[in-house]
Amino acid sequence: MEQTLSIIKPDGVSRNLVGEIIRRFEQAGLRVAAVRKLHLSAREAGDFYDVHRQRPFFGDLVSFMTSGPVVAMVLEGPGAIAKNRDLMGATNPKDAAKGTIRGDFSESIDANTVHGSDGPQTAAQEIAFFFARREIM
Ligand code: CMP
Repeated sequence: MEQTLSIIKPDGVSRNLVGEIIRRFEQAGLRVAAVRKLHLSAREAGDFYDVHRQRPFFGDLVSFMTSGPVVAMVLEGPGAIAKNRDLMGATNPKDAAKGTIRGDFSESIDANTVHGSDGPQTAAQEIAFFFARREIM
């Protein structure tokens, strides 16, 4: 059984897509093991995306991620990391296939609706960023 972190970004939350996105996860066999809605501070968003700190898009990324509340969740299931990434589609919605979350809903590379961990080590770090062990069922 594998776990991964998913974030529904401010564009997904403000457009009332939380239920539709979770429905897609559940329908694909993933289980929500923890869930939380919060409004990230600039420091929290910067720390979460620390690997991108030197990239030219870092400022825009932090400003978008702090523009409204997000919903963070732990998804669990066989191959959860890859399955979540398949459901999300390509990072840039221009490249994301129809039927994927980003292909169906995203407006731009920043407002790309969801984030998902890209590997086992990042998943462990990202889950620990949002949740204490006792909050994960
Ligand atoms: P996410 O999967 O949350 O990881 C980092 C985010 O940075 C990414 O989704 C995009 O929303 C955003 N981003 C903006 N510009 C770029 C870019 N050129 N390459 C990758 N990610 C970008």
